[in-house]
Amino acid sequence: MRLSIYFSILFVEVAFAEKVPRVWDDEDTRGYRLPLALLGKEPRMIGSAEYYSLPEVNLKTYPVYAPGKEPEGYIEWLQNREPEPLVDVSKLKTEAEWIAAGREVFYGRELPRFTGSEHNLKMIRDPRVVAAYRLQTTRDGVLLGLRYVVRQKGRVELGTDTCSMCHVQVTASGEVIEGPANVHTPFGPLMGDLTRRYAQMGDAILEDRRRKHMREDYRVPFLDDDENLKSASWPAERIAQAYERHPLGVHGRTGTSLDHPVKIANLIGLQNYRYFDRTGTSRHRNIGDLMRYAALVGDVIDASTRYGEGPVATLNQANMGLAGGLKRTPDPMIYALAKFIYSLRPPSNPNQPHDSSRRGAAVFERARCGGCHSGEAYTNSRLTPVEGFQPSKDLKASVLIMARSVGTDPYLATKTRKGTGLYRVPSLRMLWLERAFLHDGSIGTLEELFDPARLQPTFRSSNWFHHAPAHAVTGHRFGLELDAQDRKDLIAFLKTL
Ligand code: HEC
Ligand code: HEC
Repeated sequence: MRLSIYFSILFVEVAFAEKVPRVWDDEDTRGYRLPLALLGKEPRMIGSAEYYSLPEVNLKTYPVYAPGKEPEGYIEWLQNREPEPLVDVSKLKTEAEWIAAGREVFYGRELPRFTGSEHNLKMIRDPRVVAAYRLQTTRDGVLLGLRYVVRQKGRVELGTDTCSMCHVQVTASGEVIEGPANVHTPFGPLMGDLTRRYAQMGDAILEDRRRKHMREDYRVPFLDDDENLKSASWPAERIAQAYERHPLGVHGRTGTSLDHPVKIANLIGLQNYRYFDRTGTSRHRNIGDLMRYAALVGDVIDASTRYGEGPVATLNQANMGLAGGLKRTPDPMIYALAKFIYSLRPPSNPNQPHDSSRRGAAVFERARCGGCHSGEAYTNSRLTPVEGFQPSKDLKASVLIMARSVGTDPYLATKTRKGTGLYRVPSLRMLWLERAFLHDGSIGTLEELFDPARLQPTFRSSNWFHHAPAHAVTGHRFGLELDAQDRKDLIAFLKTL
């Protein structure tokens, strides 16, 4: 009796000793990426020996406060800090501790390429700038997405673009919901404004802070006549206006294009997807794949990916603000981050089922939405080809592709580095938290999505900013034939999910 109790305690202790998967393993990384339609094969990621020879970084960062909310003497206090590790992974034992550490990484791991200048540091302490950029702020006055970094005692730098910049939503009442897209900060107009500021500071600054970045962020090495590369040479005002056309809820991420940004993802329920990204750029087979995704984004390891052959097939890291070379986050920290992302759960939905929504559930059936939006998460997790893309036999054998195209704008899925030729069937959960629909966020409300008026060239969505000219948003015509009552019921149903 005693012995078996003793053994079971032992067993529990063994179960707690986490086996951390390797972020980079040649076997796994080989199967990770999907082929790109116009490249005809997968981009090639760096090998594991090279990955593990990158220096490790584990550096504590500190909250940035909105003007007027900063505790007294805060900056002086920071100036007296020594560089410290962000988390001590050797102390992590329980699942709750791992998740808490992952949250630290989510909020505190700055993206190394966007470490800000003295100028950014000044800007962020200016109330007018903070108000105009509508950066999200917690009730304690903490600005999400930005952090102070102490690499060297006495020197406080501004780091930007932590995961929480884009993947947290602060509600009107100040509640922080972790996982959904930031639908408050107008990232496009923000980039437009920064572009004009750089232009005012002179050509050299504009070149260094904007054009060089654009040339790498949007360049598609395997296109002969790459439109994305040309936009980097446009006059500053034209670039600024192009950014201002980005609807709310999207981001001109590296690998997209100036004119074709992508909708910011909701990280809650990521387990439901077999492929990452709206274009299914990579496989999501297990937690190791999520760790790879996080390393590619968080440490910008993706800057070392090779797109085809020749000298221009890789990006110029110095132009991307990575002149200091790539560094990697230790595996256990990325593991903690992935566990944190998997632990995210939907907030309670204020839209409870009612008569109209129940009728809407029947409309959903009748309209056969469930052919693609099936199961608990309302997605079959498959990919659909863009119009004109013929997946090869090999691709069809290795990737879950539907025969049917939904006919949405093909640009992102063809002429960018995310161009697999495919769009993923998205989950319909938590649509009530969204302000942007379809892969490019070109639709601002569910009412607009199911209104045939969007097929007209006079259409303007409620989430477009002033420079966006009226234009039709075609594709995904499902539900457009419904009469007014059915449409209302369907939308009521979708809002309860
Ligand atoms: C500047 C905004 C921004 C930041 C910062 C950011 N992301 Fe994202 N994230 C996006 C956008 C936009 C997408 C959608 C990409 C796509 O569909 O091609 C995305 C997609 C993802 C996905 C795939 C989700 C899916 O549905 O397939 C994961 C996972 C993810 N991000 C994790 C992270 C992590 C971890 C960090 C921090 C290291 C981070 N992101 C930082 C904007 C951001
Ligand atoms: C043939 C498969 C298919 C059918 C049928 C279908 N959808 Fe979709 N749905 C998709 C795909 C693929 C997308 C994403 C398109 C894109 O990103 O460009 C999408 C996007 C959406 C979106 C936007 C979600 C987001 O995150 O961007 C909603 C809402 C939606 N569908 C609801 C419906 C409803 C309601 C029906 C039935 C009237 C329906 N769909 C029928 C495949 C389908």
